[in-house]
Amino acid sequence: MWSQDNVVRLIFLILLMSKRVSSKEPQCSSFHYEEQLLSKMIRMEIAMEQQQKRVNDALEKMSQTIELFKTNAIEKENQMFDRIRDALESADTKMVNFSNRTQLLEDNLKNATNDFAQDSKLLSTTLTQNVSEAIGYLHTLEEKAGTPTIAFEAKSLKDLSVSSNIHLVFTEAVFNHGNGYDVRTGVFTCPLNGTYLFTSHLCSATSKNIGFSLVVDDTAHTSGTVYGSSTNHCTSFDIIAVLQVASRVWVQTNSYGSNFYQDSNMVNTFSGVLLHR
Ligand SMILES: *[C@@H]1O[C@H](CO)[C@@H](O)[C@H](O)[C@H]1NC(C)=O
Ligand SMILES: *[C@@H]1O[C@H](CO)[C@@H](O)[C@H](O)[C@H]1NC(C)=O
Ligand SMILES: *[C@@H]1O[C@H](CO)[C@@H](O)[C@H](O)[C@H]1NC(C)=O
Ligand SMILES: *[C@@H]1O[C@H](CO)[C@@H](O)[C@H](O)[C@H]1NC(C)=O
Ligand SMILES: *[C@@H]1O[C@H](CO)[C@@H](O)[C@H](O)[C@H]1NC(C)=O
Repeated sequence: MWSQDNVVRLIFLILLMSKRVSSKEPQCSSFHYEEQLLSKMIRMEIAMEQQQKRVNDALEKMSQTIELFKTNAIEKENQMFDRIRDALESADTKMVNFSNRTQLLEDNLKNATNDFAQDSKLLSTTLTQNVSEAIGYLHTLEEKAGTPTIAFEAKSLKDLSVSSNIHLVFTEAVFNHGNGYDVRTGVFTCPLNGTYLFTSHLCSATSKNIGFSLVVDDTAHTSGTVYGSSTNHCTSFDIIAVLQVASRVWVQTNSYGSNFYQDSNMVNTFSGVLLHR
């Protein structure tokens, strides 16, 4: 507003006026008043000038501050963008790593699965082997533990006069461990594989023949005939047989047929025992 030039011009004007006034009017109270007013104005102007300068300085500082702020802001902004870009790039890298990790994880998982499959196959195989070994061992133990008692003795022939090739039925079981012998049919059925001994004792009626066979599954293992004489005759016969479960063993008449005798002194019997498994 009030530049230095203007102030100089104003002072010059005041000096000019004062010269003119002093020449025309030597003494006047209003002059003093104007002079004072003018000087006051000048002082005011100078003060204003200073004020303005301070304002300008302030503005300048403010502008600088704004400029600095702008610079900083841009810098900050750039920094922010840099960081975002870095973050994105890093995220990108991380994504790659992530995908690699996923791949790695997948590979590991596949391998683990394969390993597991192979392991379980191996486990299954060894388990099967072990189980069959264990079963074998149990069998060995069972054998070592001893032969179970399979034994019977039967007496009391159902019929004393029997035609040829007929099963003899001994109706009374003295003992029948393992329940192999059937008192109704006279047949012994093997409950276990093993080696058996069978024996029979038969007595003839006076002057009568007895013809006999010890039969395993329809095959006569031993046979014989005792011919009649004036007294009773008794005879025994036996077999040892290696038999399997469900094999059937009985005594029957041979092609001759038989007439038996029995009392407390002549007892007809059929017996059997498992010797060894
Ligand atoms: C990505 O993996 C590479 C190699 O394993 C490693 O050097 C890099 O630091 C990883 N990057 C990140 C962001 O994890
Ligand atoms: C990670 O994956 C990238 C792209 O899929 C591939 O180029 C780089 O070889 C992989 N790095 C590793 C260590 O597997
Ligand atoms: C998976 O198994 C293959 C073949 O055995 C092997 O080459 C690979 O390194 C394994 N991968 C991992 C991640 O263990
Ligand atoms: C099989 O038996 C062996 C020893 O006889 C043992 O070391 C192994 O763990 C067993 N395996 C299984 C699957 O039972
Ligand atoms: C009995 O012996 C037969 C022939 O050796 C065999 O096949 C079968 O498994 C045996 N049975 C038992 C219960 O041991």
